[in-house]
Formats: sequence, structure tokens, C-alpha cells
Amino acid sequence: IRMILMGPPGAGKGTQAPWIKEKYSCCHLATGDMLRAQVAAKTQLGREAKKIMDQGGLVSDDIMVEMIKSELDSNKECKNGFILDGFPRTTAQAEKLDEMLQAKSQNLKHAIELQIKDDLLVARITGRLIHPSSGRTYHKQFNPPKKDMTDDVTGEPLIQRSDDNEDALKKRLVTYHKQTAPVSDYYRKTGIWSGVDASKQPGEVWKSLLGIFEQDQ
Ligand code: AP5
Ligand code: ZN
Repeated sequence: IRMILMGPPGAGKGTQAPWIKEKYSCCHLATGDMLRAQVAAKTQLGREAKKIMDQGGLVSDDIMVEMIKSELDSNKECKNGFILDGFPRTTAQAEKLDEMLQAKSQNLKHAIELQIKDDLLVARITGRLIHPSSGRTYHKQFNPPKKDMTDDVTGEPLIQRSDDNEDALKKRLVTYHKQTAPVSDYYRKTGIWSGVDASKQPGEVWKSLLGIFEQDQ
């Protein structure tokens, strides 16, 4: 499969993507995770990106396009297809992605948008816990780990993202509505767009996704 998973912060992109990855044995490229890896590695890019992420802004289109291009070219898991999570986030990125795929004679099968109202996102974001090295995601109430603040698989500590507070979320939502909502219109014009109600339980959202995939021959 080759697809984009869209939706506002906390919509459930990082929750659903691993299930899609398992179903299709493709790669899951999450640009936010890639940037956080740069932050953890204390690279120059990581230092610059952290400031932008904590303020809810966007890292430059050129950097993000290059990051996706090099992963698609080199990551062996992507040979079977890909799920893009958090990219494209501007129409400029969407246009560049089209060019990139055209050059490879590939096309996108789906652009799926996880749709949810802003007021449900505060609780999801402020309660989120992550296991940094694997990207596994939990929630203090909605999906608690078996043992307090500890990853179920490795037993390592869970952390909160530095942009997961109400203040930064407000800014991320402003950025989303201004710069990323137009990407939805971009794909609605193409015929590959589908919307899913992301306010339901994770398992219900997954069923809706399966419903979309079932229509592929
Ligand atoms: P990124 O990491 O992509 O953050 P985001 O888009 O804000 O999305 P989130 O990761 O917050 O939400 P999600 O949809 O993955 O939710 P999740 O499944 O974890 O980007 C971070 C930053 O990097 C950006 O702000 C930007 O600065 C920069 N960046 C990234 N890509 C860029 C690009 N292309 N261009 C420029 N800049 C870029 O779920 C959230 C919580 O809710 C979890 O705790 C989960 O357990 C829970 N949950 C999930 N589903 C449900 C459900 N159905 N019911 C109840 N709880 C649920
Ligand atoms: Zn995410």
C-alpha cells in the first residue's frame, strides 16, 4: 500500500499506523518521530527543530521533503509500500511528494483523514505517554501501561513529549488549521481521499480503516 494518514495532533495517526504497517508489511514514516530522533541525538537539525516543535510551528518544507525522500529511497521496508504520518503538512510538501512519486512511477492509493473536533484533543494530548525508542504510545486514562510510567514490552520508563501541554497544543492546532487543512482539500480533489470518524474508540477507528481497505481489489 502507498498512503497518507492525516489528521490533527492527537487524532490517532501514531496509534493506527502500526496496525496498518502490520497488515501491509510496509514502512511507517512519521516525520515527527524522525525529528524527535534528531533532537535525542542532539544534532544541529535537532536543536533547531526542537525550538520550532515546542512552539507548535513547522520545520521548513525543504528539510522535510529531503527527509522523506531519503527514507523512501533507502529504507528497505518501504519497498512494499509506505504509510506517511505527519507528511505532507503543507500544500508545498504535497506537490513535492507528487513530483517525487512521479519520478518513481508510483502513485498514492489513499489519503485518509482522521477527523475529530479540537475540543476532544486536549485530553488525548495532555494524557499521552510515549516510549521514546520504539514510539509506542500510551494514555494515562484511555490506554494505560500495565505498570505505572513503564513500557509494557521493555520495562523502560515512559515520558511525555515536550510539546504535549495545553499551551503548545493550542499553537499546534492554529498551525494545523492554517497550513495543514489545505492539504486535505488538495487530496479531496484527487479521488483518493477518505475521511474517518476519529472520535470513536481506537478499535472502532481501526474497523473504519479496514472498511476503506476492503474496497481495494
Ligand atoms: P507529530 O509528531 O506529527 O505530531 P502531531 O501531528 O501533532 O500528531 P501527534 O503525534 O500529536 O498525534 P497522533 O495523531 O499521532 O496521535 P496519537 O495516535 O499519538 O509532529 C510534531 C511536530 O514536528 C510538529 O508540530 C512540527 O513542528 C514538526 N513536524 C512534523 N512533521 C512535519 C512536517 N511534515 N513539516 C513540518 N514540520 C513537521 O494519539 C494521541 C493520544 O491519544 C495517545 O495517548 C493515544 O493513546 C490516545 N488515543 C489515540 N487514539 C485514541 C482514540 N481513538 N480514543 C482515545 N484515545 C486515543
Ligand atoms: Zn503522532
